[in-house]
Amino acid sequence: MRPFPHIVLIGPMGAGKSTLGAALAARLGLAFVDLDERIATAAGKSIPDIFAAEGEAGFRVRETRALAAALAGPACVLATGGGVVLAEANRDALRDGGLVVYLQVAADAQLRRVAGDRNRPLLAVDDPAARLAELQARREPLYRELARITLDTDTRPLAALVDELAAHLTAAQESHP
Ligand code: S3P
Repeated sequence: MRPFPHIVLIGPMGAGKSTLGAALAARLGLAFVDLDERIATAAGKSIPDIFAAEGEAGFRVRETRALAAALAGPACVLATGGGVVLAEANRDALRDGGLVVYLQVAADAQLRRVAGDRNRPLLAVDDPAARLAELQARREPLYRELARITLDTDTRPLAALVDELAAHLTAAQESHP
């Protein structure tokens, strides 16, 4: 068995976790799981509808449940939502259950990627740039604490990122006792 059955991508909204995750999974011959998609499927409604009906607190309960289920499931590349690191239970599960990769993105690239996206309820505010900065200030130390590998996503094309990450992962898997 692989020492790390789950490769977990963390980082803020717009870091490219889903895009890079799907490409990496294809490269490694692993399944790709998008945690937000799992949450929406389990709830039978979209992420914005979950936030509208149950608030952020309701969403976070669902997120914790979906994360535990994904980490208990078969080997995969798992793309998480930007707030997954907030709950201590999630951080413990990530520490135990996966090789965690932090995808970084500069604020301007992040804003470009999420501009006009109606699928992210936390950005339905007058000043999304300020909101992203606020979220990042709170979450960045948590991303850093959990990550075994950190990768900048806004300086190279997707194919180069996949190559680099695949190389890092091979080294990390080999050095894991
Ligand atoms: C969230 C990020 C979203 C989604 C939800 C909350 C967050 O996922 O989980 O809207 O708290 O940053 P992405 O990071 O994939 O956009």
